[in-house]
Amino acid sequence: MIVEGIVTSLDAAGHLNVAPMGPIVVGDFASLLLRPFQPSTTFNNLAATRCGVFHVVDQVEIIAQAAIGRLSVLPAVERAVKIDGFVLNNCCRWFEFTVDSVDESDARSRMLSTVVHRGERRPFLGFNRARHAVLEAAILATRLHLLSRQHVLDMMSFLEPAVEKTGGHAEKSAFAMLKEFVLRHEPV
Ligand SMILES: Cc1cc2nc3c(=O)[nH]c(=O)nc-3n(C[C@H](O)[C@H](O)[C@H](O)COP(=O)(O)O)c2cc1C
Repeated sequence: MIVEGIVTSLDAAGHLNVAPMGPIVVGDFASLLLRPFQPSTTFNNLAATRCGVFHVVDQVEIIAQAAIGRLSVLPAVERAVKIDGFVLNNCCRWFEFTVDSVDESDARSRMLSTVVHRGERRPFLGFNRARHAVLEAAILATRLHLLSRQHVLDMMSFLEPAVEKTGGHAEKSAFAMLKEFVLRHEPV
């Protein structure tokens, strides 16, 4: 099953990168198959350092902002326990992993990874339609090189009522930010 969350990784100089990623989760998070596209910072960092942290989160602002490069302030973090990396303070669960193999034969690479340490900060809030809608919209906003802008806007129009009906301020403003980003994108 694919679980959408956040990967933190470091470059060779130790700079932190935060990016939404959806690895295929094997078993009870025993291992992860990460599939970062080339080129992406996550791909470069994981290929170089061979370790990172995957986070299960239930707040979508960070996903929306990081997806479109609008994470102006890095989130609060603490040092990871078993790997050279950082854990988000604001997450539900985290999984520190080491990368066992990198298959870069396709633009979407495949990185088989082993979870070497895990932790839990707080329980998952629960399903919320607005948060799922923002998650979908964030994924759409990162696919503008593959999908037409009009198609993305049509899909976002379908998602918007769930945000309006079931979201709070955070979900509404994250969705509005994504919509503005898509509207500014030059049609291809
Ligand atoms: C929920 C979600 C899941 C994503 N999963 C992936 C993924 O598995 N692989 C990938 O390359 N990009 C994925 N993306 C898109 C990346 O997050 C996006 O391209 C981002 O800009 C990459 O950042 P980076 O260059 O800092 O690594 C996902 C986006 C979202 C919103």
